[in-house]
Amino acid sequence: MPTVRVAEAADAPTLVSLVRRAYRGEGGWTTEAALLNDERIDEAQMLKKIEDPETTVHVAIDGGRIVGCCELVRLENDKVHFGTFAVEPELQAAGVGRYILAQAETAAAKMGVTCVEMAVIAQRLELIAWYQRRGYAPTGETRPFPFHALINGGALRDDLHFVVLQKSLGV
Ligand SMILES: CC(C)(COP(=O)(O)OP(=O)(O)OC[C@H]1O[C@@H](n2cnc3c(N)ncnc32)[C@H](O)[C@@H]1OP(=O)(O)O)[C@@H](O)C(=O)NCCC(=O)NCCS
Repeated sequence: MPTVRVAEAADAPTLVSLVRRAYRGEGGWTTEAALLNDERIDEAQMLKKIEDPETTVHVAIDGGRIVGCCELVRLENDKVHFGTFAVEPELQAAGVGRYILAQAETAAAKMGVTCVEMAVIAQRLELIAWYQRRGYAPTGETRPFPFHALINGGALRDDLHFVVLQKSLGV
């Protein structure tokens, strides 16, 4: 399995490219390419995450290259948001994603929080099922999709919205 470290500013271009390939490319077992044709994130947004004191971006390194990433955003004293989760498409479905998520949960527990939440596009049923197999459960909360904030592209359907999933750590 890869090693995981905290991202540095110099990682931003590589991470933008990775996130775009994973979320918008045709490779991999789960992608949003059928739902959106924007660029998902730009370098300024990635740098902001890396430099935000309330956010920790993790990068997974294997064979000297970045093969995955995720972020943890501190929300409240007892909760973090998990997102910007990507694995190099050609390396997906081999356990790397499961490993990065488990490492993030360990890091979250070390931050002293007891709960991890995430927001997943409701239409991505195979991904929601994957999170459910990792112990995450829908809270019943939905959140609007930020159609207005898409970069260099748009949504391919107008009914996108998020469902919130949550897991208590140590359960
Ligand atoms: C989501 C993502 C990070 C998971 O990483 P990964 O390395 O592929 O994950 P793993 O190898 O640990 O797990 C693969 C799982 O996919 C399942 N899978 C493989 N092919 C599948 C398919 N065609 N349909 C449904 N599930 C499939 C496997 O059964 C396995 O599930 P299991 O561990 O419960 O048995 C990665 O697919 C990705 O980058 N996706 C695009 C970006 C994204 O959607 N991010 C999350 C947004 S909330």
